[in-house]
Parts: sequence; C-alpha cells; structure tokens
Amino acid sequence: MPPSSIPPGVLHLLQTVPNLLFPLVFVYGLQRSSTLILPTYAWALTYVSAIPVIFLTKHILEYIKEESEIRRLGARRVPIIPRRWPGGIDVMIRAIESNTTGKFDDLWKEETERLGSYIVDVHLLGDAFLFTAEPDHIKAMLATEFDNFEKGTYFQWYMHSVLGTGVFNSDGNMWKFHRGITRPYFARERISDFETFNHHADLAIKKMKERFAEGEALDFQDVAARFTLDSATEFLFGSCVESLSSALPYSWNSSRHQAKAKPHSSDKFAVAFGHAQDQVAHRSRLASMWPLFEFWKDKTKDDMKIIHDYIEPIIKGALVKKASKNDMDSLEKNNELATTLLDHLVQQTDDVGVIRDETFNILIAGRDTTMSTLTFAIYLLSENPNVLAKLREEILTIVGEVRPPTIEDVKQCKYLRAVINETLRLFPPVPFNLRHSIRSTTWRARDGGKPHYIPADVDVGYSVFMMHRRTDLWGPDALQFDPDRFLDERVHKYLTPNPMIFLPFNAGKFL
Ligand code: HEM
Repeated sequence: MPPSSIPPGVLHLLQTVPNLLFPLVFVYGLQRSSTLILPTYAWALTYVSAIPVIFLTKHILEYIKEESEIRRLGARRVPIIPRRWPGGIDVMIRAIESNTTGKFDDLWKEETERLGSYIVDVHLLGDAFLFTAEPDHIKAMLATEFDNFEKGTYFQWYMHSVLGTGVFNSDGNMWKFHRGITRPYFARERISDFETFNHHADLAIKKMKERFAEGEALDFQDVAARFTLDSATEFLFGSCVESLSSALPYSWNSSRHQAKAKPHSSDKFAVAFGHAQDQVAHRSRLASMWPLFEFWKDKTKDDMKIIHDYIEPIIKGALVKKASKNDMDSLEKNNELATTLLDHLVQQTDDVGVIRDETFNILIAGRDTTMSTLTFAIYLLSENPNVLAKLREEILTIVGEVRPPTIEDVKQCKYLRAVINETLRLFPPVPFNLRHSIRSTTWRARDGGKPHYIPADVDVGYSVFMMHRRTDLWGPDALQFDPDRFLDERVHKYLTPNPMIFLPFNAGKFL
C-alpha cells in the first residue's frame, strides 16, 4: 500500500468508483449493441437496478459456493449478530458507542451470551466479520494455522499512515524482513540491562514525591506514559524525549489546576503520539467506511509530521555516525558496538523510511504495552492493599531498600511475576486484535456439534481480554484480582491443561 498524498476519502472513491461504474458500462454496452428494443423507462430501470443486482448476484453466488463447501466439510455457519438496520449499521453504531462509554466489550459480551457462542459473525455491510474469544480458535490463528492467517490488507490499510510497513503492519516476506533486521538486537544482555530504566524510574519517583510533598494527587497513568516514553526513546534511539522534564499536570479539582504549566518541547511529541494512535483505533471501529470520515484530510497527517520531524534527524545523525565509522574493521564489529536499536538498524540498511517505520513500530509496541501494564498494576494494587503488602514484603526481602533490582532478583520475585500476570490477565494491553483468513477452514465448536465454517478472505477479530475473563475457563472467581491463581492449585486446574487461555503476548513473549 504505497503512501499517497491524495486524501483517504478521495482515494477510496477513486478506487471504488470503477467497480461501481462497471455495471452501468455493462448496461450501456447492452443498450448500444442489443437488438432488444425496450422503452426508455425500462432502460432507466435497468440502469438504476444494475448496481444492486450485480451486488446481490455476487453475494448470492458466493453464498451458494460457501453452502456447498459447508456441506462438503460437514460444518455450519458462525451465528450472526441480529441487526435491525440494513448492512448492520446499528451494530456498528453500538460498537462505536460501547467504546465511548469506556466499556468496549459490552456489545460482544451481550451478543456472545445471547447467541450462546464465543464466536459470532458481526456481518457488516454485507460482508462476514467474525469475532472470537475461544482459545482453540485463537491458537489456530497464531500457531497451528499460522500460515493461513495474515494481518491482511484491511488492517494494513487503516494502519498504514501511522505504522508504514513496519513489523506490526506487514505480512509474509516483508514481515520476515522486519523481524530479521530487529531480532538480533533483542539479545538477552540488552533486555536485562536495567540501567536506562533505573535512571528514568528514579526521576519519575522523584517527581511523584515532589507532588505528594505539595499535598497534591497525581495522575499515575500520565507519569507512566512519560516514564515509558522517555525510557523507550532512549533505549531505541539513544535520544530521550525527556517528557519527565515537563511539569506533571495537577488534578482537575486542585486550586493549582488552572496554573499554566510552561510547555516543554516533549509535549508536542507525546500529544501527537497519542492522537495518531487514537485516530487509527477510531478507524478500526468505522470498518471500511473510515475513509469517508477523513474525506479531505488524513487525520493522522499532522501528528505523524511532528513524529517524523523528531525521529528523522536522529536517524540521519546515526547514518552520518555510521559513515564516519567506516574505517572500522567490519560491519560485525560495528554491530557489536550497537547500543541502541537505531545503531543496530543503521548497520542493516541506509533507508531512512525503513528505519523510521521500524523504530516507530517498536516504540508503539513496547511503550504503550508497558505503560498500560504499569498503570493497571498500580490501579489494582491500590484497590487490593493486602496484595500490595505481600508484594512489598517480597521485594524488600529479595532486593532490599537501597539498590536497584537485577535480572536475578526479578527471577526470584515469584509473587511479583504473579501480580504482573494477573494484571495482564484482567487488563491485557492488546485486548482486541485482528487476522485475515487466506483459505477457508473449520474450527471446533464449543458445544461439540458440527464445526464452525470459516470462509476464505474474511476478517477475524479476537479478544484475549474476553477470553481472560471467562468463568468457564478460569473458574468462578475469574473477575477477581487474585495473583495467587498463578501460584496455587488453580494453575494445575485451569492453566497447565490449557495454556492458550492466557495470551497477553499472543502466542509468545515479545520478539
Ligand atoms: C507488557 C508488555 C507487552 C505486551 C503485553 C506485549 C504484547 C504484544 C502482542 C499481543 C503482540 C502481537 C501483536 C500482533 O501480532 O498483532 C506483540 C507484538 C510485538 N511486540 Fe510486544 N508486548 C509487550 C512489550 C513489548 C516490548 C517492551 C517490545 C519491544 C521493545 C515489544 C515488541 C513487540 C514487537 C516488535 C512485536 C511485533 C512482533 C511481530 O509481529 O512479529 N513488545 N506484543
């Protein structure tokens, strides 16, 4: 999907209009060449009905083909969410509304309960859109039928203006290429090097202490966002955005709230970073109609300019640095010295666009997930003081009060790991995700009846958020925050026999 300076709505029209015109051209050809003499009103009717008739015929032929395949495979269709309006527009509106109320899983929960199936067909604008929270189905997409499921052109279409062709937004050989160039960097020594994180954590804690000394509350999510942005930019680019240098906001009910904080240069980057991600999330909910809502202007464009203006000079600087090191023995030697992901990438390619997309994809992948986990962990700990006390005791016993933790300490902190796992279970940072089927297949049904038929060329959404909260998979207390479920007999009862019920990292750890 090449980048385009044409606004998304206009581009979409240019791409779809030829398809829409085809039936009209066909009727025109018929009229000109036909010996058939029809009155003008009959030709007018033929023109008006040409598009819907072709559309319906296409769908009927597809339906017949699928029905014969379903019979051959001894399968059945996935149940469709009932709709009131044509094209399921009402379902789409409910999806958008359930997001604005902050409870984005409401719609899915209601419908899966109503239909008695954890796989449903949302069926938008005449096309199947499947949605599942079944571990077997998710396992099929991520592992056993990995080659039959890709991110797909729809996902890449609405993500492209932000993610470009980076690892998150590519399939097949392009995906292999991106993984290939980054993977060697994430060696064990690098990801267990806590120095960068210790430095920024100290700064964040200092800022928080200052705020508490003023007798004021603070927004921990904001602190986590700054901490992760600063540490991730330093880790990836070797150049920190320094968002922690900017004043923390006061809570809305503080008398200091109105006091105008001096803007910091990092604010622009942080705000643009957030906006661009919100916008692509919004596109995903508008399905194929999203370009119509950005008819004249790509709404991520201004934010991405701010982001690219920040990243590109750093990349160019790294390329210059590489050129000046040309007298060094070999590429491998340079590579050994690479301290940041950027240093590593400039050894692989000189293409600024590739490096920019790659680093930015990993910035999004690593930063938001970590921020979300930290924020929800603090939220859950503040609601569960007994868990907090137990965790504190473990950390004080193993690490003590003075020195920063090491990787060996972290390995010993079993309860800490359980707290993080339980946080990731209830609030997985990637709660919903999407794949696209290449060929048709069948998936086991929960009721033991005929398997579900999964057509070729269809989008399949899946939610680990919903799966992690299912009482039939996790036991009656599935909605409670209880880290001990990762340590006591419940592990053997639920998780060990069915490890795919816990997938915060999809089918593996990152990278
Ligand atoms: C709590 C922390 C994290 C969670 C829950 C998490 C979760 C995930 C998930 C669910 C995916 C799969 C997305 C998909 O295939 O559609 C993913 C992919 C990825 N993550 Fe993470 N992640 C975390 C931290 C990180 C960090 C710290 C980094 C790097 C610094 C990172 C780098 C990546 C990359 C590069 C991918 C793409 C891999 C690929 O497509 O092959 N993640 N992560």
